[in-house]
Formats: sequence, structure tokens, C-alpha cells
Amino acid sequence: MRISVIGCGYLGAVHASALAELGHDVVGIDVDERKIAALRAGRPPFFEPGLPEILSSAAASGRLRFSTDIADAAGADVHFLAVGTPQTIGGTSADLRYVDAAFEGLLPHLAEGSLIVGKSTVPVGTAARLAARLAKEAPHANLAWNPEFLREGFAVKDTLEPDRLVYGVADERAASVLDQVYRAAIEAGTPRIVTDYATAELVKVAANAFLATKISFINAMSEIADATGADVTALADAIGHDVRIGRRFLNAGVGFGGGCLPKDIRAFTARAEELGRGDSLAFLKEVDAINMRQRQRVVDLAIDVLGGSVFRKKVAVLGVTFKPDSDDVRDSPALDVAVHLKGLGAEVVATDPEGVENARMRHPQLDYTTSAREALTGADLVVLVTEWREYRALDPIETGRLVAERRIIDGRNVLDLHAWRAAGWQVRGLGRP
Ligand code: UDX
Repeated sequence: MRISVIGCGYLGAVHASALAELGHDVVGIDVDERKIAALRAGRPPFFEPGLPEILSSAAASGRLRFSTDIADAAGADVHFLAVGTPQTIGGTSADLRYVDAAFEGLLPHLAEGSLIVGKSTVPVGTAARLAARLAKEAPHANLAWNPEFLREGFAVKDTLEPDRLVYGVADERAASVLDQVYRAAIEAGTPRIVTDYATAELVKVAANAFLATKISFINAMSEIADATGADVTALADAIGHDVRIGRRFLNAGVGFGGGCLPKDIRAFTARAEELGRGDSLAFLKEVDAINMRQRQRVVDLAIDVLGGSVFRKKVAVLGVTFKPDSDDVRDSPALDVAVHLKGLGAEVVATDPEGVENARMRHPQLDYTTSAREALTGADLVVLVTEWREYRALDPIETGRLVAERRIIDGRNVLDLHAWRAAGWQVRGLGRP
């Protein structure tokens, strides 16, 4: 099929490359000229494992092009909207200006029988609003909403082998077009849920709200564990054995961040309030509050471990991205902790294998290095806040030779406490005795 993907960020660039890899003829479109230039040169504009490989194989096949001109979407059978829906500045609702601009931009270029497919995470009701406008402006075209569940770090795999497909459609015709797009996944037996627009929009935010709630639940338990001397990791293992609960997303620590979970729960709450159902989602405010508290807890631990003040202490912060295997620092708990410590007068050196460049753009006041060794050298305190494999694998004895003082805060509860303590380290975690 001929496909256009509007928006070439973390979602769109992977989606466009994956669809070309599956044999479709794809054009990726973005207003950001630098991004398009990089993609044309076969260089992903961000770090995502596996993306360079599918980008170059798709480009070599001649099935993948990139453009800054939305007119190049003309002629496609299917147009995916994969633009961002960030949090509004100064508010909590979703900013729909990019979705609206992409949609309006497409209107003059819609071929007879073509399908617009929304992938962006939007407030429920958006698809119905766009469909009404489409019926007026381009009744020969159709609209579907097809939320995306990819995780950064696993985006290529999640796109090529999704665990489910959700179609929000107004008629069967749209569903059968999407079946052609995703033929490979459907033949592989991927479950497919065909529903209305509102349900499809809600599936996405409900899934993210559930995941966020699960993380904040275990973080609340870690606060209780701290007050009682219990161990939240053993607690998570034990309750996680109940298949109704499950062990995944029960890792207590500095909390969730990134471009999705935090802003999605806030936008969902704002939308519920607009609908006069604020009470139904009031608990998500608590989920958000618990999450934000974890960052402060790590800072408080640092103050405590350093005897009451971090002023002029050298602190090595391991990790700035919101999770490993990504260079994304949007709403990153790790970076927030680093900035806060710096604000309290600590001499912070932050390190990350992939996120330093993005972090520096947001917070140039911090000192950065890509070398963990350099950050650790002479440190009075080490704070592990993003669980990159190389930080999890640090050897306590070797690391002990680099630092000035053997003190570490494990903000992700990933270190073997016994091994570190045996090597003479003072180790503190969240909800661990
Ligand atoms: C999330 C959803 O998982 C994905 O389905 C959706 O499409 C987009 O949002 P992503 O933001 O890439 O994906 O990251 P995810 O792996 O979900 O992690 C989110 C945050 O939660 C990270 O900051 C992570 O460190 C944190 N987290 C996750 C925890 O603190 N504890 C856990 O147990 C799991």
C-alpha cells in the first residue's frame, strides 16, 4: 500500500520504517528540516535500538522516503497521524495543535477512498470531532483511530510484533484497510479489537493510567516499607506471583517519567473534568503525587547520607534519561534529581550513555560526561537513577577504588545490596532495609 506518516518523532519514524520494512511504500513527513535531513541520510534523529538497521534496509529497498512537504502525502491510500500531543504549557490538558495542523494540512491532499489513521494519544472525543470535519470537507475520505502502545527502547519490536491491534472505526471498510496495512501481524495471530472511536481513544489512556497506577502503588508500598523496615522488592516478588497481579511494572524506585505516562494521566484527568466526571479519575492525581514524591525521596536520602547537607559535595548521578535504552529526557526523574541536587549546592556530575546531549539542551547548568568512570572519580556520593545495564553491572570493589566515599543510593532498586555492603559501601534504596 502507499502510506504517509505525518510526524517523524519517536513514534512516527519507527512506524514509517517498520511499514516500509513490511513491504509498503512509505513517505515520512515532518516540519522539522533537521530531523528529515538526518532520516534521509539514514541517521535516526534519536537513539532507539534496532531503528538504524530497519531505516537503512527500508531506504535501500527504495520504499521509504522523507519530506518536509505535506503535499508529498498526496496519492497515499493511508495517512497516519503520528504527531506529538504534549502537555499544554501552564496546564495539564493535551495540546492538540500538532494533530489539528497535520489534519488540516492533509485535507487538500486526500485521494478518493483514502483513510486517515490517528495514532497520536488524544483526549477522548477528538476522533469524532475530526470525523465530523472530514465529512464536511472531504467526504470521499475516511477516518480511523489506531492507538500505539510501543515502548521506547523496544519500539521496533513493539511495532513489528504488537501484542494487540486496536481499531476505532466508523465502518467495516476502514477496518479492512487497516487489516491490509497490518497483514503480517494479523497472519501471525495478533489479537485485533475493532471498536468505536471513543473506545479506541480510551484504550490508550486507560492502559497508560493503569501502568502508572501500578508503579505508584508499589512506590506507595515502598514508603510504608521504609517506615516499617520491610523490603519492597521481596513484597513485589511475592504479590507478583499472583497471576492476577503480575510482577511487571512493580519495580519501586524514583518513579515514572518520559513523554507518555506523566502527561497522559494528567491529560486524562483534565478530560474527565471537562466531561463532568472528575471524581472518576481523581485517584490519578494521587498517582501523580506519589510519583513526583519519589524524586524528592531520593534527594532527601542524599541529604541524609551526606550528614544533613549536599552543599559542595561531589555527587555522581548515574543516568539522565527517563529509562534505559533511550536518549529521551522528557520528564525524566533522573534529570530532575540531578537538577535538584545541583540547586542545593552539590557539585553534580551527571553521566549517561545516550542522554547527555538532550539533557544538556534542557539543563546546561549541570556538568555532564558520557564516561561513568569520570563521573565516579572522587565522588562523595553516587546516585543511580536510570538502570542502564552498565550501571547495574558496576563492580562494587572496582567502583570503590574510584570514589572518595563509598556511599550509593540505588534509586531503582537494582543493586545486590549484600555484594555492595560486603565491599564496604553504605547503600540506601527506596523501601529496602
Ligand atoms: C509507555 C507505555 O509502556 C507504552 O505502552 C506507551 O505506548 C507509551 O508509554 P514508555 O514511556 O516508553 O512506554 O516507557 P515504560 O517502559 O512504560 O516506562 C515508563 C516509566 O515507568 C519509566 O520512567 C520507567 O522507569 C518507569 N517504571 C516502569 C518504573 O518506575 N517501574 C516499573 O516497574 C516500570
